[in-house]
Formats: sequence, structure tokens, C-alpha cells
Amino acid sequence: MSTAKKTFKRVTVKSLLEMKEQAEKISMLTSYDFTMAQLVDKAGVDVILVGDSASNVFAGHETTLPITLDQMIYHASSVVRGVSRALIVVDIPFGSYQSDSKEALRSAIRIMKESGAHAVKIEGGEEIKDSLKRILAAGIPVMGHLGLTPQSIYQFGSYTVRAKEDAEAEKLIKDALLLEKLGCFAIVLEKVPAALAQKVAAQLQIPVIGIGAGNGVDGQVLVVNDMLGMSTEFSPRFLRRYLNLDEQINGAFVKYVADVKSKDFPNENEQY
Ligand code: KIV
Repeated sequence: MSTAKKTFKRVTVKSLLEMKEQAEKISMLTSYDFTMAQLVDKAGVDVILVGDSASNVFAGHETTLPITLDQMIYHASSVVRGVSRALIVVDIPFGSYQSDSKEALRSAIRIMKESGAHAVKIEGGEEIKDSLKRILAAGIPVMGHLGLTPQSIYQFGSYTVRAKEDAEAEKLIKDALLLEKLGCFAIVLEKVPAALAQKVAAQLQIPVIGIGAGNGVDGQVLVVNDMLGMSTEFSPRFLRRYLNLDEQINGAFVKYVADVKSKDFPNENEQY
């Protein structure tokens, strides 16, 4: 059942700004397929992110780098078909915007046109300024992503907390202000100190949505597979598991195998 304070028929980028103005926290979860997206939307989650984390949790890659634009569009169009209320945001994947701003615009247009999603998300600050300007000028809503940006993992070297040092924190604040000035409608802040994230959220008019960024921001996002406990391997401090699906699903599969082997399934009522 939804616990949203304000009932939006359809969440838009404007609704998110209203939520920030009214101090209503924004809920966001990822989804990569039709069935999960339907469940997430039915629960009243405000924003559904078709994250490039699909590369990890769906395809089993170690990083988000291998997922392609075509694959992101496939996931996004499946999600779009399952959603009637949430705002749907799609990650522009690694390798489809870094070469130049025209390529970035082409990728954003393909996502919007071929999936039917409502906005794109893109990692980076000052260094992708030209791409942001071009995408925004085409009327495509953009969500920024700063802090730990997983597409740059080989540059960072590890998934540890970002912007703990003054210089990186200052750059992050500058980048966040720039993204707002350019016209982004929201920013994801990933794995940064809570005090810094709170400072950024207080300085910006647009919503700041955190993952591992504490409670002083305007909303929270989690990867749906992680919060459902579908795997026990990924266990960062910021992750709250709402279910232990790993155990429950395994129990169901083990029982199914036993039922088939013992000829208990199907029984008389389960056949024609
Ligand atoms: O791809 C993703 O799931 C993300 C979230 C972690 C914010 O970018």
C-alpha cells in the first residue's frame, strides 16, 4: 500500500520539485523488467530508475561498463509497459555519451523515443557540461549523478566512499551547483559523507536523491534486487534489506525439485 503524502496521478519532474518544496521525501527504486516494475509502481514508489546496475544484477557483470545502449532500451521499454504512476528515468550507459555531445544527444533521443521513458540519468559534472547542455536543449529531462559514479570505477580503483577529502568535496559541490544551473531536474548522490550530502541538498532547489548519502537529502534510491535480499554477496553499510528473498526463493526451488522427483507434483488437481 502506498504511503505517499501527496497523490500524483502521474509523477513528473515538476512533482519532484513540489515534493522538495513541501519537504516530502522522494522514494526511488530501480527496475529492469515488466513484472518488477509493476510491483514497484503499485507500491507507490515515486521514481523508477532503469539503472545500468542491470549490468550487475541482471547480466552478472562485475561492473556497469559492459551494458549497451540497445540493452538499456530493451530494459526500459519493458519497465515502461508495467508502470502507470512513477516517473521513469533511464541511465545513459557507458560508451554512449563520452565521445562527444552529439553522440550523447543521439543516445538520449534513442532512449526517449524507443523506450517511452520520461527522463535520462547521466554520470558526471563539469566534464560532461556540453553533453548536458545539448540534451537539455532538446527538451529531455536530465537527472545528474555525482559522488561514486560506477562508470568511472577503474579510475577510482574501488567502491569506497567518495569526497571525504576537502578538494573532492568542493568539486562535488561545484558540480552539483553547475548541474542545477544547466537545468537538471534532480541529482543522485552516491556513497558520500552524510554531512556533505545534506549540505548539497540544502544549497540546491532541485531534489537530491541519495544512495549511501545519509538522511539529510530529499529522497532515497536503492537497487531493487539488493533491498529485496535476492543476493547476500553485496552488503554495503547503506543497504537495508526488506526481505530475504535469496532464502525464500531457494526454499521454493528446492521444494519444487523434491516435489518433481517424488512425483508429488503435479497432483490430480493440477492436471487435465
Ligand atoms: O544504476 C543504478 O542502479 C544507479 C543507482 C545506484 C543510483 O545508478
